[in-house]
Amino acid sequence: MKQGDVKHEAISLIEREHRSLAAVIDAMKHVVKKVEGSDKPPDFRLLHAMLYYICEYPEQRHHPSEDSTLFALLMQRSDEADEIIRDLEAEHDEGEEMLGMLTVALSTWEAGRPDGVERFSEALTRFSEFYWQHMQKEESKVLPIAQRQLTEEDWRAVKDAFSAHGDPLLGQEKGDEFNELFSEIVRMTPAPIGLGDLDG
Ligand SMILES: [Fe+2]
Ligand SMILES: [Fe+2]
Repeated sequence: MKQGDVKHEAISLIEREHRSLAAVIDAMKHVVKKVEGSDKPPDFRLLHAMLYYICEYPEQRHHPSEDSTLFALLMQRSDEADEIIRDLEAEHDEGEEMLGMLTVALSTWEAGRPDGVERFSEALTRFSEFYWQHMQKEESKVLPIAQRQLTEEDWRAVKDAFSAHGDPLLGQEKGDEFNELFSEIVRMTPAPIGLGDLDG
């Protein structure tokens, strides 16, 4: 495999994970928007499944792979991206805290708090904007520097980390679990975003 192939494969794996996460965040906003301003309860099971996906996927796979390969290797090769990488690493922690708040907001909404939907919707908008900017920074600032600085061996390590579905450390089951959960979310999410009931 040529260097360009390994590099492009690694980059497309990272970008694909970003798209999956963005798709689930967007689907969640869609579900909330459908019930805002109405007395109709949302499909809490679906919202929990989405939140679980958003919480677990970055924590279990995406961020650790960025920290241990892409960011670590780039900092070894050059100091060009040091500052932005430090910001992004801090954002990985910040995102975790925001998800904690989102989880609490979902539980209090489900428990019947009168302004539950507004509070959850606000927390989701904040998280969505935060995460979108985070991914944009990685794609528009870090990846271009990485393309100039990383070696073929580095790109192979990045690609292996992001395509590690069969890695015994993460387990094939872990990859399958997230793929199945993603498919279930798509099935349950109302059209036109997902495949679920239009009135869902
Ligand atoms: Fe990240
Ligand atoms: Fe990322």
